[in-house]
Amino acid sequence: MKRIQLHDKIFEPYIDKNTIAQAVSNLAKKIEEYAGSDSIVFIVVLKGSFIFAADLAKQYTKEAVFEFYRLKSYEGTYSSGNVNILVDIEADLIKGKRVVVLEDIVDTGNTLEKIMSELAKKQPADLKIATLFYKPNAYKKDIPLDFIGIEIPNVFIVGYGLDYDELGRNLPEIYRLKKEKMIDFILFGPPGAGKGTQAKIIKDKLGLTYIATGDMFRNHIKNETPLGIKAKEFIQRGDLVPDEITIDMIKEIISDPEVKGLIFDGFPRTVKQAEFLDKLMSEKDLIIDALIALDVPEELLVNRLLERGKTSGRSDDNEETIKYRLQQYHTKTEPVKEYYQNQGKYYEVDGVGSIEEVNQRLLDVISKIKLRDRT
Ligand code: IMP
Ligand code: MG
Repeated sequence: MKRIQLHDKIFEPYIDKNTIAQAVSNLAKKIEEYAGSDSIVFIVVLKGSFIFAADLAKQYTKEAVFEFYRLKSYEGTYSSGNVNILVDIEADLIKGKRVVVLEDIVDTGNTLEKIMSELAKKQPADLKIATLFYKPNAYKKDIPLDFIGIEIPNVFIVGYGLDYDELGRNLPEIYRLKKEKMIDFILFGPPGAGKGTQAKIIKDKLGLTYIATGDMFRNHIKNETPLGIKAKEFIQRGDLVPDEITIDMIKEIISDPEVKGLIFDGFPRTVKQAEFLDKLMSEKDLIIDALIALDVPEELLVNRLLERGKTSGRSDDNEETIKYRLQQYHTKTEPVKEYYQNQGKYYEVDGVGSIEEVNQRLLDVISKIKLRDRT
């Protein structure tokens, strides 16, 4: 199976035929149990449910009648909120009957709410809803769903009856809209190079998620999360936070499917951490696209750090501690450059100049980085 294009968008395989078939047959069984010895009127919600209803009908062994209801709510890949009835159902077909609505997918629930309120007016003896797909995170209504096939996250899918502007209904399996990925990169450089300042600007401009390990620790500790409580013990003892804890914190952030891209600042600090990070990213089907190093001469770094020390009152404001930190950077952290150089992902940017100048250089490099194919 591979990617397909429908209109202007790319879709990738998501749910295979067997999984769908299994879900349909489970639904048929559950509805049979519910029906007991009564006849059921199935309301097939068109167009999306036509394949689902046909497959379910073939699995359903008890007495059943099929009626067709046609509504429309979607514009492109967004639920429009207005639901129109295009083909209605005569009231006497369902009055006093046990009715099961067959929906392809429940998203916000707007369509469902409209269907249930319209059908209730026609006075069925009982009214149930069966949906093949359900997006719990998108659902905004209180109406309980009686029979659910497959729960999915808030992604746009096509196939097996579902469309993107009328295309894709005849795909035998489900495809999802390809995630729009920006870039995942490490902003690298010695203390005082301006990483934090630049990362925050780029994050806002490109809509990326900024991961600064220092901030991450402080947030976890402030919110007294289980990871924060663990991290605090080490920090209080003056020890480094173990990589496992840091990795778990990062894992939480990058697991969010809404994240468009990542900027790492202050991590990885060692080659071992870089290896950890690569492994973690690949588990989530992600990849570090680049390491971008800010290049600033040593004397300038020392000056900047001395200045910063004066204003922030940080303990590291004397020349000796600054020199020590820079030396630590050279021995432990600099080898991370080579690690990504070997993967062909190393980029360098001149870090001397105004904030705007350096920022423009960074954006230029980012736009040139060829994003690796992710599937
Ligand atoms: P709702 O009113 O937001 O719950 O949307 C329900 C209707 O929107 C469904 O019957 C589908 O026609 C359409 N829809 C919702 N999500 C998707 C999707 O992921 N792919 C294709 N159509 C969808
Ligand atoms: Mg549709």
